[in-house]
Amino acid sequence: MTARVPIGIVMNGVTGRMGYRQHLVRSLLAIRDGGGLPLRDGSVLWPEPVLVGRTEAKLRDVAARHGLTDWTTDLGAALARPDVRIYFDAQVTSEREKAIHQAIEAGKHIYTEKPLATTLQGAADLARAADAAGVRHGVVQDKLFLPGLRKLQRLVDGGFFGRILSVRGEFGYWVFEGDWQAAQRPSWNYRAADGGGIVVDMFPHWHYVLEQLFAPVRAVTAQVATHIPRRWDENGEPYEATADDAAYGIFELDGGVIAQINSSWAVRVNRDELVEFQVDGTEGSAVAGLRGCKVQHRAATPKPVWNPDLPVSHAFREQWQEVPDNEEFDNGFKAQWEMFLRHVAEDAPYTWDLWAGARGVQLAELGLQSAREGRRVEIPELHR
Ligand SMILES: NC(=O)c1ccc[n+]([C@@H]2O[C@H](COP(=O)([O-])OP(=O)(O)OC[C@H]3O[C@@H](n4cnc5c(N)ncnc54)[C@H](O)[C@@H]3O)[C@@H](O)[C@H]2O)c1
Repeated sequence: MTARVPIGIVMNGVTGRMGYRQHLVRSLLAIRDGGGLPLRDGSVLWPEPVLVGRTEAKLRDVAARHGLTDWTTDLGAALARPDVRIYFDAQVTSEREKAIHQAIEAGKHIYTEKPLATTLQGAADLARAADAAGVRHGVVQDKLFLPGLRKLQRLVDGGFFGRILSVRGEFGYWVFEGDWQAAQRPSWNYRAADGGGIVVDMFPHWHYVLEQLFAPVRAVTAQVATHIPRRWDENGEPYEATADDAAYGIFELDGGVIAQINSSWAVRVNRDELVEFQVDGTEGSAVAGLRGCKVQHRAATPKPVWNPDLPVSHAFREQWQEVPDNEEFDNGFKAQWEMFLRHVAEDAPYTWDLWAGARGVQLAELGLQSAREGRRVEIPELHR
């Protein structure tokens, strides 16, 4: 039988939406269901989750649902265990910094949800502390692993676009206010004091998508709004929404690429997917969503003529060609977990470290500054 190498992983925030569904069930337990993670030396890495949270009853419930027995409300005790090698954080953003510092001090490798922290200073301090302690570190950048964006990456790598001119992103959907229909996102997302806000939430995603697929982001101009100022929480109580729920951003990338991304929780969807990116290049264009990606080559570009006196003569959406999968795409969170586990277990390369996380927080912070001051803000290199 293949040698099974257990690896203890503290999972903090495992009762939350992301911690439970994407990270525990769809990633670590899915890896176990698949027989563990095969390593180069022929052994198999076996994740042993240690569930950590604030409420005993909730942890017991999650554990029982999956036949797990290892859970505690005492983070310090979990971090003191020698069989625990990794600390993972999917708590509310405002609780993250303190807990990760504690885990670094305990000498654990760090893997975390984004945003890494609520301020750039806090994020950079974490990255520095992790480097100084010599632990491995990574931040979730799940969108890069989605089929639509993987296909987009393939187009970039294959030189499909020629010179890339612009990127247009549209993200959002209607998040119910919570009075007559329950809101489908946690209420802390709409309170600034609790680490909420769409800029803090989404700009870190846009940062790694732009940086990894296209080029580093050099400047940001943003306008933000709180379109829905009053919402109702999980208990049906009204509260004041103090955080931004929409952001309209322009991002200037190296090489002159202009990216424009709208993010909103107060928009109704008239798109094929909840997020879509259109990329226009001299040789061709593409529209990528979470799953699909379609292209239009230069040679197949129609020539519409502006004439409002005549009805539209083109079926524009039908003039695009679907990019084939050509491979099987696993859950994006799981795919990234596997890379991080290999990074820890056998030194495999891994790019998306806490510094990448800090750059995402930096973009959010400077985006908010741009909105506050009504001006374009340049993005300096982070000093390690
Ligand atoms: N990668 C992604 O696509 C993605 C998507 C959504 C959220 N996130 C991030 O994941 C993290 C969790 O988001 P979520 O949507 O799962 O939130 P959630 O509210 O569903 O879960 C929050 C978790 O934090 C715990 N927690 C600890 N201290 C808390 C406190 N003081 N108040 C409230 N909860 C507390 C909760 O018990 C729960 O386990 C956030 O940092 C968020 O930015 C990432």
